[in-house]
Amino acid sequence: MNRSIISSGFIALLLSVFACSNPQEKKSDFIETNIRNAVAQEKLQVEAIENSGKILNPRTVESGNVKYVNREDWTSGFFPGSMWYMYELTGDSIWRTYARKYTEAIDSVKYLTWHHDVGFMVECSFGNGLRLGEQAYKDVVIEAAKSLSTRFRPVAGIIQSWNVNHGWMSTRGWECPVIIDNMMNLELLFNATRLTGDSSYYKIAVQHADNTLKNHYRPDNSCYHVIDYSLTDGSVRNKHTAQGFAHESSWARGQAWGIYGFTVCYRETRNPQYLQQAQKAFDFVINHKNFPTDFVPYWDFDAPGIPSEPRDASAAAIIASALYELSTYENGDFYKSWADKIMTSLGSPAYCAKTGENGNFILMHSVGSIPHGVEIDVPLNYADYYFLEALTRKMKLEKKSEV
Ligand code: GLY
Repeated sequence: MNRSIISSGFIALLLSVFACSNPQEKKSDFIETNIRNAVAQEKLQVEAIENSGKILNPRTVESGNVKYVNREDWTSGFFPGSMWYMYELTGDSIWRTYARKYTEAIDSVKYLTWHHDVGFMVECSFGNGLRLGEQAYKDVVIEAAKSLSTRFRPVAGIIQSWNVNHGWMSTRGWECPVIIDNMMNLELLFNATRLTGDSSYYKIAVQHADNTLKNHYRPDNSCYHVIDYSLTDGSVRNKHTAQGFAHESSWARGQAWGIYGFTVCYRETRNPQYLQQAQKAFDFVINHKNFPTDFVPYWDFDAPGIPSEPRDASAAAIIASALYELSTYENGDFYKSWADKIMTSLGSPAYCAKTGENGNFILMHSVGSIPHGVEIDVPLNYADYYFLEALTRKMKLEKKSEV
């Protein structure tokens, strides 16, 4: 256990008992307060792991205990990624040490080919490390992009998300399911082309984005969760949901993944259609009659029990982070002020846990999957990851450095 963490733990605890921000505080205080709070929570999170003598990867809280996951879990990149953002937010090298340790612990996922989430896993961990100067991580990013590319199905022009030969996915009658979440894996492919000069990764990403734009979105700019393609002729077999309320409903995190994913695609390609899709998808969110006045969506915009349905803070954090980037392209004040409003809400005591509570995760009130009956109104490592990313982007925007 690192001594500086032990010795400063108690002081940090005292400093941060009142850390969650209140609506009256000044703009600059918001960032400082939320960094201080994140430091207190993440220190406790890391301390518990280090004290175990193992390398653990916290995902959520289950039956009152922190649930740790193995490296093949789709969320395994978020805790290492949060460590990188802690380093970026604080400049304290201790976070870099932990970021490297927990990132390098999942190195073998670069060979993972049995689901699409290798993009999330490697980009959030190694990708952030590479962005912050760890040149040795380049090979991991490239290897992971090769693994993800094995899931490209040329007949349909998409990357297959899930295999259909096991688990609950085998019960749905799908041939080649693609979920909107998969837009988040494309950043890895764009990076691999930049690192290698091999345009095949870029081309796969663009085909996937184009077909997602064509098939996942409805005329009102909401999106389906799952599009099932034919592997024989590439046609669309089904438009379904897996984690939303109904096939025709709008699952909140799916809307968030779409906004974020098309923003990244615009960054990488400058194709205005991608920018417009991100903007229109965000318009759908803010104009929806069920978008709450505190800007943190219900888990599904069409959930039948609104306003008594659980919120999904993870969706809000993903959208806020995407909006900070979106604000750098067009209508900056509009997108930045929306991102700030969402962050103010997430940083308030309604969503931001007190130090030492909530399994030492930062945000409360997220939802994993209500149809599967798992992770309902809990903390989630990806809610924290995108909250920290959004905080980092906000800090850089306000300092006028690159987002
Ligand atoms: N990518 C899985 C989820 O958003 O729950």
